[in-house]
Amino acid sequence: MVKILIALVLFLTQNTLSSYGAHSFKKIQLPSLGSEAYAFDAQNGGPYTGLNDGRIVKFHGPNLGFLDFATTTQNRSKRACDGTSGNDLRTCLVCGKPIGLEFNKRTGDLYILDAYHGLMVVGKGGGAATQLAGGRGGTHFDFADGIDLDPITGVVYITDLGSILSKTSNMTEILLGNDRSGRLLKYDPKTKQCGVILTGLAMPAGVAVARDGSFVLMTEYLNCRITRYWLKGPKANTSDIFAELPGNPDNIKRTKTGDFWVAVNIQKLHPKLTVFPLGQKISAKGEILETVNFYGEYNATYITEVQEQFGKFYVASIYTDFVGVYSGGLRC
Ligand SMILES: *[C@@H]1O[C@H](CO)[C@@H](O)[C@H](O)[C@H]1NC(C)=O
Ligand SMILES: *[C@@H]1O[C@H](CO)[C@@H](O)[C@H](O)[C@H]1NC(C)=O
Ligand SMILES: *[C@@H]1O[C@H](CO)[C@@H](O)[C@H](O)[C@H]1NC(C)=O
Ligand SMILES: *[C@@H]1O[C@H](CO)[C@@H](O)[C@H](O)[C@H]1NC(C)=O
Repeated sequence: MVKILIALVLFLTQNTLSSYGAHSFKKIQLPSLGSEAYAFDAQNGGPYTGLNDGRIVKFHGPNLGFLDFATTTQNRSKRACDGTSGNDLRTCLVCGKPIGLEFNKRTGDLYILDAYHGLMVVGKGGGAATQLAGGRGGTHFDFADGIDLDPITGVVYITDLGSILSKTSNMTEILLGNDRSGRLLKYDPKTKQCGVILTGLAMPAGVAVARDGSFVLMTEYLNCRITRYWLKGPKANTSDIFAELPGNPDNIKRTKTGDFWVAVNIQKLHPKLTVFPLGQKISAKGEILETVNFYGEYNATYITEVQEQFGKFYVASIYTDFVGVYSGGLRC
């Protein structure tokens, strides 16, 4: 907490935040809450996103809005599941709980992380996804959260938050605690093997592979930093600190040019839990290039992802029933 408070004070006094003009902010209505992450297909269609009630939906433009695309349970019933809050275990098991998703742009397959059903895949036509690893009773995942694919090899990288969420969902307790049960895993579609690469991570929420496949980044939520694991070169199989952040990072997404956007929430615990949602652009060398303040539109709402697509910025939050889209570029 002390670390977070000091970071907050330093950050707010030393940095002039840039922000997007309100007129360039647009909301795309979602069918339900719980949209944590977005994916775009190889034809730039989307966004696709998962919802609390288990649906994976695709945006078809302003007239049609979001339509059903895929499910992570074979027998999901729309009548029983659509609109459910996804807050109880039974509903999650029956309806699904997709929280991360990313396309293999070469094959068109959509890889999905379901918090209870593990790593799954569905073809470009959508429908019922097939389980590849982890899942209920499986030994592979505690709480899988982040997913990205090596853009060159198609190997899937997954972050697992660890066991903390099975002990408490109280954010204050989680922030004051010292959990290090998170892991980085990889799934190789060629060998169909899933294995652990790194352990001892502090709630690794997000993951992103470098454009050239030389390293993979994990956001360590409780450590307020991004850790890098080298996949190639002389440092292969070792990890180091990539960037220190002013708050708790969630998802991290690579841009077309090889930089990254990370959603950062500065959290102040006293007198009550307050959140300052930011987006930070970080170069492939780990330099923070831009900091954007989303407080204007999101207030103290926790955000989970910032993704850049063709000059637009898509902001996700599991607490909003819309996709936030900023366009018109950054204004300081
Ligand atoms: C799904 O439905 C099929 C056909 O009714 C049934 O055989 C199968 O056991 C069901 N699967 C689950 C997980 O309920
Ligand atoms: C969360 O934990 C904090 C610190 O232990 C406690 O003060 C607070 O009452 C808890 N909140 C809830 C909703 O249980
Ligand atoms: C990294 O690990 C892989 C797999 O164990 C091994 O093949 C490779 O030689 C290692 N690279 C370095 C630089 O240690
Ligand atoms: C932020 O507050 C404004 C003004 O009360 C409100 O219109 C807006 O919906 C809030 N945004 C979110 C994401 O809750």
